[in-house]
Amino acid sequence: MAIQTVTDAIRYVGVDDNTLALFENQYPVQPMGVSYNSYVILDEKIAVMDSVDARAAEEWLSNVAQVLEGRNPDYLVVTHMEPDHSGSLMRIAQEYPEMKIVGNAKTFTLIKQFFGTGALSEDRMLEVGERDTLSLGLHRLRFLLAPMVHWPEVMAAYEEEEKILFSADAFGRFGSLERTARAPWAPQARRYYYNIVGKYGAQVQALLKKISALEIKTICPLHGPMLTEDLGEYLRLY
Ligand SMILES: [Fe+2]
Ligand SMILES: [Fe+2]
Repeated sequence: MAIQTVTDAIRYVGVDDNTLALFENQYPVQPMGVSYNSYVILDEKIAVMDSVDARAAEEWLSNVAQVLEGRNPDYLVVTHMEPDHSGSLMRIAQEYPEMKIVGNAKTFTLIKQFFGTGALSEDRMLEVGERDTLSLGLHRLRFLLAPMVHWPEVMAAYEEEEKILFSADAFGRFGSLERTARAPWAPQARRYYYNIVGKYGAQVQALLKKISALEIKTICPLHGPMLTEDLGEYLRLY
């Protein structure tokens, strides 16, 4: 899927995977495909929101480079370390050696386990905790830990200026953006929910409670479409 404009400052740079047969080696994703979502926030500082599956690394890096227009990203925010999102982490870390990786304590434990203790130098790891903020200029991210909304290190990031929730696997849906652009959200979201995150219903409810106080205009999940209208209905279904 081509780069998309989310808002003036935010671009969708994710990649559709229309050839994968089984998501996580067990859930059929044909013929609808799946998307590995990633976003770039362009401000005085630039943040890339998550990486993508290793299968999609080349296309993703090319999308990122295109929206950067020669600038360098300051941060890669890692909201989830499962390989469909961290599979290209070291690729982008090598591509932009000045860029810092933003995660919580558990994120960095997993990075060391996955890629080796020396894979990233300590000065490139920017650790954040519950409700910490990261200012990019006009935009500011606030981190909300969401442990076990699939994995222990998961966190959401709320962008306060444009009121966007980067929700990690929550509100994700099977189906590539290209192939399911006009498909209703609920059927494949329901299937994704009960296969992937539904086992952690209590933890999902804890995250919903945290976000209930926030004004949210857009939800940017790690799979499937960005959600902009009728957010109350998605929240109700969740
Ligand atoms: Fe996941
Ligand atoms: Fe995922």
